[in-house]
Amino acid sequence: MDKRTEFESRMARHLDELKWLYCELYPEDGFSYLRGRLKARYQERRTSLKSLDLAREADPDWYKRNDMVGMMMYTDAFAGNLEGVQKHLDYLEECGVNYLHLMPLLDSPEGKSDGGYAVADFTKVREDLGTMEDLSRLADTCHKKGISICLDFVMNHTSEEHSWARRARAGEQEFEDRYFFFDSFEIPGKYEKTCPQVFPTTAPGNFTWLEDRKKYVMTTFYPYQWDLNYRNPMVFHDMVDNLLNLTNQGVDIIRIDAVPYIWKELGTSCRNLPQVHSIVRMMRMICEIVCPGVLLLGEVVMEPAKVAPYFGTVEKPECHMLYNVTTMATTWHTIATGDASLLKRQMDIVNSLPKDYVFLNYLRCHDDIGWGLDYDWLEPRGFREVPHKKYLNDFLTGCYPGSFAKGELYNADPASGDARLCGTTASLCGLEKAFEEGDVQAEEQAVRCIQMLHGYMLVQSGIPVIYSGDEIGQFNDNRYREDSRKAEDSRYLHRGSFRWDLEKLRKKEGSFQQKIFDAVRKMEKIRAEHPVFLSQAAVWTAETYENAVLCVNRAYGDEKLTALFNFGRNEHTAWISEEGQYRDLITGEVMGAESVRLPGYGMRWLLRQENISE
Ligand code: GLC
Repeated sequence: MDKRTEFESRMARHLDELKWLYCELYPEDGFSYLRGRLKARYQERRTSLKSLDLAREADPDWYKRNDMVGMMMYTDAFAGNLEGVQKHLDYLEECGVNYLHLMPLLDSPEGKSDGGYAVADFTKVREDLGTMEDLSRLADTCHKKGISICLDFVMNHTSEEHSWARRARAGEQEFEDRYFFFDSFEIPGKYEKTCPQVFPTTAPGNFTWLEDRKKYVMTTFYPYQWDLNYRNPMVFHDMVDNLLNLTNQGVDIIRIDAVPYIWKELGTSCRNLPQVHSIVRMMRMICEIVCPGVLLLGEVVMEPAKVAPYFGTVEKPECHMLYNVTTMATTWHTIATGDASLLKRQMDIVNSLPKDYVFLNYLRCHDDIGWGLDYDWLEPRGFREVPHKKYLNDFLTGCYPGSFAKGELYNADPASGDARLCGTTASLCGLEKAFEEGDVQAEEQAVRCIQMLHGYMLVQSGIPVIYSGDEIGQFNDNRYREDSRKAEDSRYLHRGSFRWDLEKLRKKEGSFQQKIFDAVRKMEKIRAEHPVFLSQAAVWTAETYENAVLCVNRAYGDEKLTALFNFGRNEHTAWISEEGQYRDLITGEVMGAESVRLPGYGMRWLLRQENISE
């Protein structure tokens, strides 16, 4: 197929629908301009990436395999800069990572960066991290090693220092029209009535007063993050162009940041509006035309019923992958309560979704844990929302008597009593406290808890994503409080630098770093070897007659796995009445599974042995 027809034939495949959706939002005359931009970006795309596109088009399930292991990290925290990441790729390979999410690394003003989510220039890498060429080079090296790179695309807003924002501020109408400007609080006041707040304490309100312009500008997140107005076709055109510039550097996965927020409508919550789906669907088609090897990962931090629509439909797909966010939050509820009933229910909900849906499973990420739990289910069982959130926060910040956790509150709102939570996996599981107190038994318990949580993450279908540092049990980093640019934002508690000094200890037999690292790696390998972990496998939970213990079954082909996880700190028995012989894939033990005793935070990955003769 010659190059011209390749682009044209892909365009022809999507043209009707793309144009239709475009014309629903924008005047038709802009469409040919957009088409021109797509073609230019296609022509600029390097041959190696085009070959990758073809290979992935021929194998569209390439990211659905059971050997996928993700890791997310801040470039500077991990290795100083992009060159540093390149130098440490061997470590990532040792971790088994083949999906690498580099947190925002584009130009962003120091002190007003929201961890890089306030982008001042979409075409430039932050100077201290390197250049676009470094990014391309890293992507090329990663591709040779079979590693895909994920990058954020912060499309809801720009930094107030972005050239569009500066020009808007200087009074250029054309650029003002790219944002939401208001002369008085009349309309903003109406928005405030229906539009909830993202950062009620650290950045209250959805608008910011610009004293110099005597105008309000819409700022859903921090006051220095100005919301883009996607009603303006130029915003859409230029942001698509920015997106394709990133994919042309070799970025494989685009994480569409804060996607539910990108369309605003007076009188609504300004979340998940139908136009958001039209835009995401257009982005999907655009990628399939220009760079079909690229995947879209939607960041939708909401309950499952709101997340799933971002996959689109079979005929009209939107995102390839989404975060399994409610499961993540429910996991920490389960640690704090020692009761796995809600987690069982949550897994049943996720397991009832089509198997084509690929979820990213994770324990921790760069953000806080928000308590978006299923309160309709919890309340009749005695867990009222406000006191229960308070309990979770008390437990996980270590205030609750007997708690082992060391977390911190995030955006605590005294008015509503609401708060979210920060901390690394290890600190929330009690490792930091045990280590400080020199309590060997508590340390062992914390290590088991961390291993068990990773075992639980790896038993779910989808892509497991490790938060860099968790694989060696890294603690919270309290130093952010001494930095005035970060002190207000407790998410920096778990955004500390990777501890290369401690990483060395993973080679020391008996260190907790070694126990955690080796256990996680071992489970990843088992996961990759056994077809029962394929996303096409049947997955269902089973009753254990013990609230602390979760039972997850998987079956595929000849293989059947019964995985057990004790979320309680005491020993418990899972009464699962499974007949026959089982082999624990982790320890190698062969055993019956009618009743299985598990130590506190213990787990088993039991594979059914069909032909075993004792
Ligand atoms: C996403 C990011 C978060 C950021 C927000 C605003 O939710 O994960 O860190 O604050 O978007 O861009």
